[in-house]
Order: sequence, then C-alpha cells, then structure tokens
Amino acid sequence: MSAALNRCESHGSSVGRAVPDEDWSGYADAAGATRPTIPRHPQGYLAGGIAASRLQRENSPTMDSAAAYETHADAFLRARDNSPVGSRVVARWSALLPVRARVLELACGGGFPVTRVLAAAGLRLWAIDSSPTLVAAFRARFPEIPVQCARVQDSDFFGRDYQAAIAIGLLFLLPEPEQVQLISRVADRLAPGGRFLFSAPVETGTWRDLNTGHTCQSLGQHRYEALLQEAGFSVLASQVDGGANHYYDVRKRGANDFATT
Ligand SMILES: C[S@@+](CC[C@H](N)C(=O)[O-])C[C@H]1O[C@@H](n2cnc3c(N)ncnc32)[C@H](O)[C@@H]1O
Repeated sequence: MSAALNRCESHGSSVGRAVPDEDWSGYADAAGATRPTIPRHPQGYLAGGIAASRLQRENSPTMDSAAAYETHADAFLRARDNSPVGSRVVARWSALLPVRARVLELACGGGFPVTRVLAAAGLRLWAIDSSPTLVAAFRARFPEIPVQCARVQDSDFFGRDYQAAIAIGLLFLLPEPEQVQLISRVADRLAPGGRFLFSAPVETGTWRDLNTGHTCQSLGQHRYEALLQEAGFSVLASQVDGGANHYYDVRKRGANDFATT
C-alpha cells in the first residue's frame, strides 16, 4: 500500500474506506518528485512535464485557472492523453448509473481518458471546459457530445437537469467562494438521487499545479463534506486512484432511486 494511501486513511475519514485503484500504483511515486505542499493531487500524472521554474516565470499569480490551462493546453493534452489515471474509478462509478443516464462533465479537457470511459459506459453526456484548445480536441474526438467552451462559473450547464455530474481535476483550481458556489449549483442541477463524483484532496492547503503553475486550493475533507451536506448531498464513498488522487462520491438526497426520465 502506498504512503499516500496511508495518509488518506489516517485522516479518520467519515466517507468510508478509500478504495485504491491498484492497477496503476507506482504512478504516484514517479509523480511525487516535484510535488509541493499537498502530497497527492490530480496533476500527479503530469509531474515533471513542465519544470516548476519555467512555470513561475510564465504565470502571474493572478492568472485564473482557465487562462493558465489554455496557456499550457498543448503540453497538458500530450501528457493526459497518455495517462490512464482515474479511468478505473470513473468506470466503476459509471457502472452504477442508470443505462443512458444524463451526465454533466465539468472540465472535460480533451476527453481522454475520462470522457472516453463515460461514453463507453453508454451515458448521455454534456461537457464543459474553458480552454478553446482542449475543447477543439474534444470536439474532434467526440463530435456527437455537446460541449460548451466556458468557465464553469459562467456556464448555464446547458440549461437542463442531470442524473449525474462529474468533475475531475477541477474544484481545487477555483478560489474558495467559487468552489462553494459550484457544489451548490451542481446540486441544483441534479435530480433527487443524482450522483456527483469529483476529485479533491483530503488535506487542506495550497500548492502549485504541476501542469500550469496555477495556485490550487484544497478546502479539505471536513469542509468539503460540510459543504456537500449543506447542498443536499449524502457522502457515499471515498475513492483513490493509482496516482493517489482522492475522489468524493456523493448522492443528492431526496430519493433512493434515480429519476429515469
Ligand atoms: C487537471 S485538468 C482535468 C481535465 C480532465 N477532467 C481530465 O481528468 O483529464 C483541468 C481542466 O479544467 C479546465 N478548467 C480550468 N479552469 C476551468 C474553469 N474555470 N471552468 C471550466 N474548466 C476549467 C482546464 O481547461 C482543464 O481541462
């Protein structure tokens, strides 16, 4: 068992036992060398792809996550296209959704590997990402999936409701008030019983995104769980992928079963 997984479990989680994605263990070790204050996060698969010193010169501290990712979109795409990290967690989660469930994917990037897994599960997808470069790649790969090029903070989420939503590698890119608001807005868009899967560390703190140099912020497990409760979610489970990234798997209260229409 990796050191990172031990750290996750030692937090005394109330979200249940973390399930490691053991097929990809070892990825985290390769990724750990340049990681700053948060030990594991969803950029682990890209560590070393861009040198930290170069990032410090290129990004101003005030650049938002959307601008930061567009600046580094080509490098991110090349690296993420070759990283399966998170695929198994997403596949397991997808398998629990109703056949052809309506799913909103926030921060879809270029669509590999996450969208590919969701699509293979037969889900109906609507996707959003702020990077024009990544959205162009996404459109070329998934021409049948509606995709909006927008910041999630500004998006109308296509003006419809969903049975599930997913946000991998996004929440902690946003300032705290915008993370709080996003959790609440996702809840508003889900049917009772709807599921939400997102990645964010258990630990509280800030670090520099290894993809872009952007300053990230984790609110930590206790705060995320409190916000989820307030927004009407029940926390079902905790997942950990092969890069030791942590996932919150939650369900909107109000029904035991999914709405199917
Ligand atoms: C770490 S990547 C994760 C991408 C994808 N979910 C994956 O797992 O490969 C973060 C993504 O968030 C997008 N992003 C950053 N800030 C955003 C914002 N405010 N609104 C929408 N997307 C954003 C970036 O363009 C990038 O595609």
